[in-house]
Amino acid sequence: MTTAPMIESHLAQLVAIRHDLHAHPELGYEEHRTSELVQRELEAAGVEFRGGLAGGTGVLGHIPGGDGDPIALRADMDALPIVEQSGVDWTSQHQGRMHACGHDGHTTILIGTARVLAAMSRERALPRPVTLVFQPAEEGGAGGKRMVDDGCLDGSVLGPPVTAIFGLHGWPVLPLGVLASRPGPILASADGFEARITGRGGHAAMPHRCVDPIAAAAAVIQSAQHVMSRRVDPVQGGVLSITRVEGGTTHNIIPEAVELQGTTRFLEPEAGEALHAGFEEILRGVAAAHGCAAEIDWHEGYPVTFNDPEAHAHWDAVVAGTFGRDQIQSMAPIMGGEDFSFYGQVIPACFFALGLLPAGQAEMPGLHHPSFDFNDDAIEVGIRAFVALAKA
Ligand code: NI
Repeated sequence: MTTAPMIESHLAQLVAIRHDLHAHPELGYEEHRTSELVQRELEAAGVEFRGGLAGGTGVLGHIPGGDGDPIALRADMDALPIVEQSGVDWTSQHQGRMHACGHDGHTTILIGTARVLAAMSRERALPRPVTLVFQPAEEGGAGGKRMVDDGCLDGSVLGPPVTAIFGLHGWPVLPLGVLASRPGPILASADGFEARITGRGGHAAMPHRCVDPIAAAAAVIQSAQHVMSRRVDPVQGGVLSITRVEGGTTHNIIPEAVELQGTTRFLEPEAGEALHAGFEEILRGVAAAHGCAAEIDWHEGYPVTFNDPEAHAHWDAVVAGTFGRDQIQSMAPIMGGEDFSFYGQVIPACFFALGLLPAGQAEMPGLHHPSFDFNDDAIEVGIRAFVALAKA
């Protein structure tokens, strides 16, 4: 059987699986039901696998193949803490949890890919071994890093060491049937910070006997707007947002301290270094100019998701050959973050966007929106792309 009718023969069951996953969303590292479903499916497809990875819910599958370079294909399985308002029949049965980022679709696509590749490999060996990475906790939990740390790519869990990895994400602004990517940075690094500006509290009627951290914080926030425009290479770009300001209790007290919280996003490590150094200098310097002390804690988030130029060129040639050049687009980088970045830190990686927007529709609910629902028609497209990469 060729690829298209083989995928077609699985589609009705795969849509049912997607709806079942959507109805039973689980947060990062709690994907026990999802993990069991994945393992059941791999077992039924005759695919060798190991569960219990990355803290318990990660699953690694392996399909043997010829002497071509071994590759990995990745899906994330976790949901978000959102109350679903989509109104679909398969709406979340877990109150306050929802597959609002489409990871139910990604998991289903990789299950479908496993079914198709396993069936194909029984007819004739695949040209290369394929590792299937079902990871937990993409949404802030860095499940991808734990899969890497557990040895999922280096051959210590199952199968040979892999030499490249591919991952996809459903994209609501991209038309169904279209795939998009770019070489180099595709998603941003996202770090968080908490800063504290400390003065000397006292009576609001006697400010000269106090050191006012609120006035200092206001000056810091103003000056921080210059970090992006004056300190970071404008071609590289980035984001510095202060998202929480907290200080004081009532009208007649100058507080002791003010707390600031925020985030930085960037696509190039140099931009990140300039951004962090520039903000720290302004924070401490401006606070000092107002007689205050300042301290800052950085919370390192996900690194930049970087598409290896060769892995991207391979992806581009394979998907253009499969779908036609007119279905493949180049995309601008996005300032969101992805823990697919951790795989790209150890082996060449390529991440791509999978169009979800139905034909004739101007828009659909975005990722992380309470009305979002993955488009079932994209399941077939995702499987075709993954299967083509495995068979190339
Ligand atoms: Ni996502």
